[in-house]
Amino acid sequence: MIIILLGPPGAGKGTQAAALVKRFEVPHVSTGDIFRANLASGTPLGLEAKGYMDRGALVPDELTVRMVGERLRLPDASAGCLLDGFPRTAAQAEALEELLTTLGRQVDVCLQLDVPNDELVTRLSGRRVCRGCGAGWHVSYAPPPADFVCPHCGGSIGQRADDAEAAIKNRLQVYHEQTSPVASWYAAKGRLKTVPGLGSPSDVEAALAQAMS
Ligand code: AP5
Ligand code: MG
Ligand code: ZN
Repeated sequence: MIIILLGPPGAGKGTQAAALVKRFEVPHVSTGDIFRANLASGTPLGLEAKGYMDRGALVPDELTVRMVGERLRLPDASAGCLLDGFPRTAAQAEALEELLTTLGRQVDVCLQLDVPNDELVTRLSGRRVCRGCGAGWHVSYAPPPADFVCPHCGGSIGQRADDAEAAIKNRLQVYHEQTSPVASWYAAKGRLKTVPGLGSPSDVEAALAQAMS
């Protein structure tokens, strides 16, 4: 099963991915998480990606596609995967199709989370994440522990660099300009399902399950 989770920054891709990967028993492949893990361990890939990410721009397609190609060839992805944040441009969607063809696979479904812009800004500006394991909270909707110590790994909880106001604005613009065509791309192939991303995380989980049934 190869599932794409598509949606603007703050739509709840990471939140919903946690439930979907348990349900379908596939690994969670988030390009944003892979870039952040590379940055945390100081690899050349992470350092190159940082400049783009901090200002809310996309990392160049070539670099991103190569990284995903390597990830999808790892043994745990042989049963499928949940792609979160990839593809993000029409060129990435084309490249993914080519890659999967060489692996004898195809995308089963592209699930698009639809959330209005003002709610996205509220979610992103209030998001807090663990610097160790990436677990997420929201200052109003799902408050983090008062001591800002992650209950899962003991890491420190803080804000993502790209959740600063200027970067949020840029990310939303980049999404509308460069990533919206990805939805049309999968719609044209009859593989797009759009689900409202408003309501509680469990409401959205139920809507996604319904769309998949
Ligand atoms: P990435 O890490 O993918 O970030 P993003 O797409 O901007 O999305 P987010 O992770 O910010 O949001 P999300 O949808 O996961 O929402 P979440 O569940 O956390 O990418 C970061 C950067 O990496 C990019 O800008 C780019 O530079 C680079 N990059 C990544 N992929 C790339 C690619 N393919 N090509 C090129 N560059 C790439 O939820 C957000 C908040 O809302 C949380 O606080 C959460 O608790 C809360 N929340 C979630 N659901 C609900 C709900 N139902 N109700 C209320 N609150 C909710
Ligand atoms: Mg995410
Ligand atoms: Zn943690």
